[in-house]
Amino acid sequence: MSDIRSIVVLTGAGISAESGIATFRGPGGLWEGHRVEDVCTPEALAHDPDLVHRFYDLRRAALTIAQPNAAHRALARLDAAWPGELLIVTQNVDDLHERAGAKRLLHMHGELRSALCARCGARQSWQGDLPPGTACPTCAAPALRPDIVFFGEMPYDMDRIETALASCDLFVSIGTSGAVYPAAGFVRTARWNGAQTIELNLDPSDGSIHFHESRMGPASTLVPEWVDSVLADV
Ligand code: APR
Repeated sequence: MSDIRSIVVLTGAGISAESGIATFRGPGGLWEGHRVEDVCTPEALAHDPDLVHRFYDLRRAALTIAQPNAAHRALARLDAAWPGELLIVTQNVDDLHERAGAKRLLHMHGELRSALCARCGARQSWQGDLPPGTACPTCAAPALRPDIVFFGEMPYDMDRIETALASCDLFVSIGTSGAVYPAAGFVRTARWNGAQTIELNLDPSDGSIHFHESRMGPASTLVPEWVDSVLADV
């Protein structure tokens, strides 16, 4: 580990599963019979805004009960103690990484506790329900929507993420199925640029063969162990 200077960590729904937040795919991955791909699209928002807003209202409400688990806390510990470059990129729209204390963090798929104006593009912190037609505090248009990157929309901060992937020495993927791009392609970008690549997941992801090493098990066990091993050399 002594030659590692720059780390990129990618997290997905699996890291929050032990905090009681349902993953998207696998058992319990349906929401009232809807596939997530059917709810989280600009077309669904246009045709059935009540359904889409309700989906995110329920997920936002669930955050009031959920607490960060040992895996979120371990990454926050890494963030505080790691002297080199670090970027934690999460696909999750929950706020468990930041509530655990992580700072060097990007939410590439948006945030439940944020609202986006579909008219002027302003983003603001949001708590509680967000009914369709809510007025934007910035431009007054009745156009606030959940600040979530829907299927077919461009994830946030891709320039910063691509730059970090191009220069990292170690890429670690935690709790993601590898089913959704562009995140599913990060391992290949990092590896092509010379990084070591490790996957920490309950089951082999769709992209398992692209990693140098795969460790299978619950994030609450694997992530603290991995963080301990990284910080042992600091
Ligand atoms: N510890 C580690 N991994 C776990 C755990 C756990 N306790 N529980 C589940 N997993 C793993 C599963 O084996 C699976 O590979 O987490 C992964 C979760 O996969 P998905 O539900 O597909 O979640 P994710 O990869 O984050 O989805 C990507 O899809 O719907 C979109 O925008 C949404 O950000 C999301 C994206």
